[in-house]
Amino acid sequence: MTRRDFSKASFAAILAAQSAPFILRGQGAKRYKVVLIGCGWWGMNILNTALASGTCEVSALCDVDQRMLDKACESLQGQNISNPKRYKDFREVLAREKPDIAIVATPDHWHPLITIEACKQGAHVYVEKPVSHTVLEGSAMVAAARKYGRKVQVGTHRRVSPHNLSAYEFVHSGKLGKIATAKCFIAYGGGAEKPKQNSEPPKELDWDMWCGPAPLRHFCGDMNNLWSGAIHPRGFRNYLDFANGQVADWGVHWIDQVLWFTGRTSPVSCYSTGGRPVLGPAIYNDQEQTSDAPDHQIAVWKFADGFDLTWEHRRFANNNHMKGENVGVLFYAEKGILHLGWQQGWTFYPSNSKEPSVHVEAQLHEPDGQNIKELWSDFITSIETDVLPVCDIEKGHQASAMCLMANVSMKLGRSIVWNGKTERTGDPEADALLRRDYRGSWQYPV
Ligand SMILES: NC(=O)c1ccc[n+]([C@@H]2O[C@H](COP(=O)([O-])OP(=O)(O)OC[C@H]3O[C@@H](n4cnc5c(N)ncnc54)[C@H](O)[C@@H]3O)[C@@H](O)[C@H]2O)c1
Repeated sequence: MTRRDFSKASFAAILAAQSAPFILRGQGAKRYKVVLIGCGWWGMNILNTALASGTCEVSALCDVDQRMLDKACESLQGQNISNPKRYKDFREVLAREKPDIAIVATPDHWHPLITIEACKQGAHVYVEKPVSHTVLEGSAMVAAARKYGRKVQVGTHRRVSPHNLSAYEFVHSGKLGKIATAKCFIAYGGGAEKPKQNSEPPKELDWDMWCGPAPLRHFCGDMNNLWSGAIHPRGFRNYLDFANGQVADWGVHWIDQVLWFTGRTSPVSCYSTGGRPVLGPAIYNDQEQTSDAPDHQIAVWKFADGFDLTWEHRRFANNNHMKGENVGVLFYAEKGILHLGWQQGWTFYPSNSKEPSVHVEAQLHEPDGQNIKELWSDFITSIETDVLPVCDIEKGHQASAMCLMANVSMKLGRSIVWNGKTERTGDPEADALLRRDYRGSWQYPV
C-alpha cells in the first residue's frame, strides 16, 4: 500500500471514530466569551486559533507581566480585534468577566489553581500540558472538572493530528502485529550551560505572583532572547521549581500517544535516572543561576500485563545516527517498527527489509507546527454536546502523572510501585513527593 492510498482510505473513518462529532455551526450560533490567562507564546497561538474559528470573542487578557499583556493586545489590534480588558490577577478576571471559556497557558506550576478556580467560576477550560507540577494537583483538577460539571480540554493536540490519527488506524488494522514495547524520545544538540545573571525583576512584572505557589526564586529573564534559557519567558521548563524538564514538557505528548494507542491508563511501576554531565552542575546563588533539570534522562514504566514503555531525552549530541526525526514514539512490534513523529509524519519500517516502508506526511498548522484548530473544534463540540473532549483532563492527568512520577523516582534514586486507583506508591518518601507545600497563603488543592 502506498502512503497516498493509506491516508485516503483511513482518515475519515478514524476521525469519526476518535473525535466527538463536529458540529456545523450556523450564523446565529452562540459566540463564547473567552479569557486568556498567560499571554505568552502558546497562549497567543491558542487564542488566535480560537478567534479564527469564529466560535468566540475575547473579553479579557490576563498576565502578571504588563509587557506580555501589551504585546498581546497590540497583536490583536493588528487583526482589527477590539481592545480587550487587561488584568494581572486571574481571580479578578474570572470573577469579574464570568467567561464561558478560560484558556490557561501559564507556566506549569500555575495550571492547577487557575484551572480549578475557573471551573468553580463556571468556565470551561482549555489548559496546557503538562496539567500539573505534582501528581496530586492533577487529581484535584479532574475532581474539580467533574464537581463543577465543566469541560476541561488539555492541549495535547496530537490526539487530533491527522497523521497521528492515521497511525492509530494503521496500528489497529493489525499491520504491526503485537506491539511488544515502545520508546518515547527527543534529542537535541547542545553543550555546557552558562549561568545567567540574576537581576531585579522588571517593574512591569509581578514576580511574586509569577512564582505564586512555587518557591520565590531569584529572577532571571530575557525578553529579547526568548530561548536564552532564562526563566521568563519560556525558559521555566527546565527549572524544577516551576516545571519538570523535558520528560514533562515533551514527554507528556508522546506518553499520552502511547496510552491512547495501546488503550492503557497507568503503569504499575516506574524507574528513572538522569543527570547533567554535559550542561554541568546546577548553580543557584545570589548572583547567578542555571537551570536544574537533567540534560539526559531515561525512564521506564512497566504495566500490569508486562508492557514496557521507556523515555529517553538528551539535550546534547542530537540523533544523527538514525533515520527520521529526532522526536516521537517508536512502537516496536512483531512485524517491524513504527516511528510516529511530529513534522515528518510517521513511517513504518517492516522487519522484513524486502517489504517497502509505509509513510504518511504530517498535516500541521503554522505557526509552530500544531493542530490546535482541530482540538479547539473538538472542545466546542464537547461543550455543546454531552461528550467529554478528546483530551479530557483525566487523560491529560494520566499522561502527566507518568512524567511526574518519573521525576519522583529520579529524585529518590530508586524505582517506585504505582497504584493507579489510589494514586499512591505505598512508599512514604515517594508519596510525600506526589505533592509539595505551597508558598505563603496559597493552598494546595485537594
Ligand atoms: N501543547 C503544546 O504543544 C505546547 C507548546 C508550547 C507550550 N505549551 C505549554 O504552554 C504553557 C505556556 O508556555 P509558553 O511557552 O507559552 O510560556 P511563556 O513564558 O511564553 O508564557 C507564559 C505566560 O504566563 C504568564 N504568567 C505567569 N504566571 C501567571 C499568572 N499567575 N497569571 C497570568 N499569567 C501568568 C507569564 O508572564 C507569561 O507571559 C506551558 O505550560 C507549556 O508547556 C504547550
